[in-house]
Amino acid sequence: MGAFDGKVAVVTGAARGIGRAVAEKLASEGADLVVCDLQSEWLTETTEAVRGLGRKVLPLAVDVGDSEAVNACVAEVLKEFGRIDVMVNNAGITKDTLLVRMSDEDWDAVLRVNLKGTFLFTRAVARPMMKQRGGAIINIASVIGLIGNAGQCNYAASKAGVIALTKSTAKELASRGVRVNAIAPGFISSKMTDALSQEVRDQMLANIPLSCFGTPDDIAKAVVFLASEEAAYVTGQVLSVNGGMVM
Ligand SMILES: NC(=O)c1ccc[n+]([C@@H]2O[C@H](COP(=O)([O-])OP(=O)(O)OC[C@H]3O[C@@H](n4cnc5c(N)ncnc54)[C@H](O)[C@@H]3O)[C@@H](O)[C@H]2O)c1
Repeated sequence: MGAFDGKVAVVTGAARGIGRAVAEKLASEGADLVVCDLQSEWLTETTEAVRGLGRKVLPLAVDVGDSEAVNACVAEVLKEFGRIDVMVNNAGITKDTLLVRMSDEDWDAVLRVNLKGTFLFTRAVARPMMKQRGGAIINIASVIGLIGNAGQCNYAASKAGVIALTKSTAKELASRGVRVNAIAPGFISSKMTDALSQEVRDQMLANIPLSCFGTPDDIAKAVVFLASEEAAYVTGQVLSVNGGMVM
C-alpha cells in the first residue's frame, strides 16, 4: 500500500530528467500517472517504468504553452480516470544570453513554456480539483527565480513569475482544499551538468555547502512530500532544494 493509492497525478515534461524522476517516484508511492511531453515517442521509457511499477499510465503529447492542447489533455484525463489529485508543472526550457543580445523570440519562448504553461495547466485543473474539494499543485521553479542570474533574464523572470503565480493561486484555491506550492531546485545533475568541465564543476561546487549537485530524485522526494497528506498544512510556499547554495 502506498501513500498515493487510488490517486491520479499529471506530470509535464516527463520524458526525462526531473519530470521522469517525479513520475516514477509518484508511481512507486501508488499513484496512477498521466505523463506529458512534446512528443509521445519521447515518453516510452517513462511509460514503461511506471507500468513496471504496476501503475496505470497514460502518455500524452502536449505542448504546455498551447491552451487548446492543455484543455484537451485535462479533458482526456478526466474521461479516463475521473479525477486529478496531483498536478506537477515541470516542463521548462532555457534560452540563455545576455540582456542586450536577447531577441524577442528568446524572451517569448521561455515565458511561454515556463510561465504560461504553468498557468494553463493550473487553470485547467483548478475546477476539477475544487469540485473534488482536494488536490495538490506543485510548480517547479528555480533558485534562479529567487536570486536572478546574468545571462538568464528571461528564465529568471519566468521562474519568479511561477513563484508569484503559485502564491496567488494558493490564496484563491485554499478554501476549496486545493494546495499550491513551488519547489526551487538548485543545480541538479543532468546531461547538461555532466558535460561541464571539471574546472567549472569545481567552481559551482565551491558555492554549495553540501558539496555536491542534487539529483532528479532529490526533487522527486520533495514533490512527493508536498503532494502528500504529510504537507496538509502547507500551501503557497517555495521549498528550496539546493544543497544550501542559497539560504
Ligand atoms: N536541472 C536543473 O539544474 C534545474 C534547476 C532548477 C530548475 N529546473 C527546472 O526543472 C524542470 C525540469 O528540468 P530538467 O533539468 O529535468 O530539464 P530537461 O530539459 O531535462 O527536461 C525538460 C522536459 O520538458 C519537456 N518540454 C520542453 N518544452 C515543453 C513543452 N512546451 N511542452 C511539454 N513539454 C516540454 C522537454 O521535452 C523535456 O522532456 C524545468 O522547469 C527546469 O527549469 C532544473
